[in-house]
Amino acid sequence: MNYSKVDSYSKHRHVQHNAALQTLSLLDGHWRDGDVVLDVGCGTGDETKMIAEMDNVSSVIDVDVLTQMIEYAKKHNKITGKMEYLHADVCTLVEDHPQLCNRFTKVVSFFCFHRFENQKDALKNVYACLSDGGECAIHVVYKSAAKDTNKQMNRHEKWKHQLQGFNDGLYMFPGSPEEFAESVRECGFTEVKCYSGDMTIIYSAEQMKGNSMNTLSYFDNISNTTREFLLIRSYDVHAA
Ligand SMILES: C[S@@+](CC[C@H](N)C(=O)[O-])C[C@H]1O[C@@H](n2cnc3c(N)ncnc32)[C@H](O)[C@@H]1O
Repeated sequence: MNYSKVDSYSKHRHVQHNAALQTLSLLDGHWRDGDVVLDVGCGTGDETKMIAEMDNVSSVIDVDVLTQMIEYAKKHNKITGKMEYLHADVCTLVEDHPQLCNRFTKVVSFFCFHRFENQKDALKNVYACLSDGGECAIHVVYKSAAKDTNKQMNRHEKWKHQLQGFNDGLYMFPGSPEEFAESVRECGFTEVKCYSGDMTIIYSAEQMKGNSMNTLSYFDNISNTTREFLLIRSYDVHAA
């Protein structure tokens, strides 16, 4: 995904927004006065701002590995005095920022675990950041049409040369949701509940294009002139 085009990502994050709302609803009834929240891979910070606006929440720290995301989030989604943005890698979070250890009563993460090559490192860091009795709601993509399309495009006679050696940076958890839950337990979490479901979203053509431009990350690797055509072709491959 081309996160340097954060404006475009922000406009076309319908799937992410829906996923975040669904994940957040798992915490309904769990919010407590004085909650201190960590948002892992906060991106543009839209939902983190929603969380910070809740009366029970005393403060939120948003972490993202991309400076462009952090800069965008600071500019567009900040509540001074309640929200803090930190440029950091969740996979080495506690080592790099030991002050975050045991600090949070809640951790949330929406739509970004598939961006971590080593999800267990991320989970261990999240666990270390939680205080005793802390709770966590993580959204994990374990199958994705975008990943399937990328694979097919990489094998496609017409495109495979342009896409050679390209890593799309999507690391879907290879096992079932239950196996993911087991990994979560292995990182120290207790009382793990795992919900799985398909997300079907109806797009307008414009929304579909914008979202695909974000998701089909190889668009940055090819010339501008072939982008539109590749996008249309990737729809065909995906629909096939
Ligand atoms: C698909 S975006 C989701 C962003 C946001 N949570 C949302 O719902 O729109 C994935 C985010 O994870 C961030 N990310 C990827 N690897 C990361 C890492 N190792 N540590 C922290 N953030 C990371 C990316 O920079 C990106 O902002």
